[in-house]
Amino acid sequence: MGASLIILAAGQGTRMQSDMPKVLHRVAHAPLLAHAMQAGAALEPERVVVVAGHGAEAVEAAVAEIDDSAQVVFQEDRLGTGHAVLQARAALEGATGDAIVLYGDTPFIRPETLAAMLDARAARGVVVLGFEPADPARYGRLVMNGESLEEIVEYKDASAEQRAIGLCNSGVICADAAELFTLLDEVTDDNAAGEYYLTDIVAIARARGLSCGVVRCAEEETMGVNSRADLAAAEAAFQARKRAEALENGVTLTAPETVHFAWDTWIGRDASVEPYVVFGPGVTVETGAEIRAFSHLEGCHVSSGAQVGPYARLRPGAELGNNAKVGNFCEVKNAEIGEGAKVNHLSYIGDATVGEATNIGAGTITCNYDGVFKHHTEIGARAFIGSNTMLVAPVRVGDEAMTGSGSVITSDVEAGALALGRGKQVVKPGLARKMFEKLKAAKAAKVKDKS
Ligand code: UD1
Ligand code: CA
Repeated sequence: MGASLIILAAGQGTRMQSDMPKVLHRVAHAPLLAHAMQAGAALEPERVVVVAGHGAEAVEAAVAEIDDSAQVVFQEDRLGTGHAVLQARAALEGATGDAIVLYGDTPFIRPETLAAMLDARAARGVVVLGFEPADPARYGRLVMNGESLEEIVEYKDASAEQRAIGLCNSGVICADAAELFTLLDEVTDDNAAGEYYLTDIVAIARARGLSCGVVRCAEEETMGVNSRADLAAAEAAFQARKRAEALENGVTLTAPETVHFAWDTWIGRDASVEPYVVFGPGVTVETGAEIRAFSHLEGCHVSSGAQVGPYARLRPGAELGNNAKVGNFCEVKNAEIGEGAKVNHLSYIGDATVGEATNIGAGTITCNYDGVFKHHTEIGARAFIGSNTMLVAPVRVGDEAMTGSGSVITSDVEAGALALGRGKQVVKPGLARKMFEKLKAAKAAKVKDKS
């Protein structure tokens, strides 16, 4: 039977200095809460319950977006972690299997670590995720007897001897779902903080004759976010990990420390990414593609062998075919660029389809917006769009058609046709020289006047 997840997300996060609930602040473009839920999702949980409190409406809306099968319950008064978990009782009524408690503000627990906790649970009543921080500070301390966990003592309640323990409570706890609540029934608020401590279930389980155990993890995994500085540190940790992963997966990063990834960036083997590239959410880059310096990509797909940038912007819905090129100072939005097609310089291609091997000249613009509606531009295969063409959508240009430079194209161009939509050139011999002489004489007269 799959485990269930209880994710605590009721805290206010005062130190964030924010109007937004803490768990909705983002790392790599995803809310902290989504990171925590994602780690648990790998276990294919039977039920997911998020305990919301501060900013509950916003949290509920975010949860619906992340996992619409997750339930949100409310903790009206924040009376402690034990009290928070109790709010999930009704939502977990009848759940068989284990429950794992996670914190919504702790984004980096690895799925493998949670799986190890479930394994350890086979032999223990309660399993706690422990870690040995460089500075144990005010974490709860894990009091061990050999490999058995005796109790968790909160820092505030700990003796000097207990405070000297280096093994700390990450907050992640696993127990049988039904048993978790009967253990919590015995928790009181008789302690230094006057709170219902989730951590008290360890001593209560021991008193019932259940053995408790610890799974250890690296400190990085338990990193929590309490302030904007923590948020920045979490972002940096995420980026460092994602860069290392990309390198391991066979992606060339010329200057890894300058490349920023989103939580879901996917880059294929033998793709290369030059310095100062930013990936927003929803980007996939296939094998062998080249993302050149200073490019910004989001919600787009770059196929095998395609080249992007330097200085390119790919916005949501940009789809580059195999070996397509989008060069410097080009923006592509909601548009398919066919196989081998080129959009090389200073162009905007939005709401469009560009056929294979078509060349889009410098400065071409798809005029897709009339102030109210968006319109589509369709360009066929092997067409040649002259520099500075304005394609006033809706409009179609057929296969192997051409447009003259500087044309404003307002009606369809059939396959194989040349369209010219520009003023006729007039040349007046000698007139430039005459104009210059006249202007220079006027300037000289002015200077004389002033002196
Ligand atoms: C808790 C643990 C401590 C552990 C530490 C790790 C307890 C009693 N203590 O302490 O052993 O070392 O985490 O970071 O469990 N929350 C609610 N509702 C509440 C109280 C808390 O949703 O009523 C949520 C918070 O938003 C937060 C999490 O639970 O995400 C932990 O709460 P917090 O107050 O930070 O616990 P600590 O005192 O740090
Ligand atoms: Ca805390």
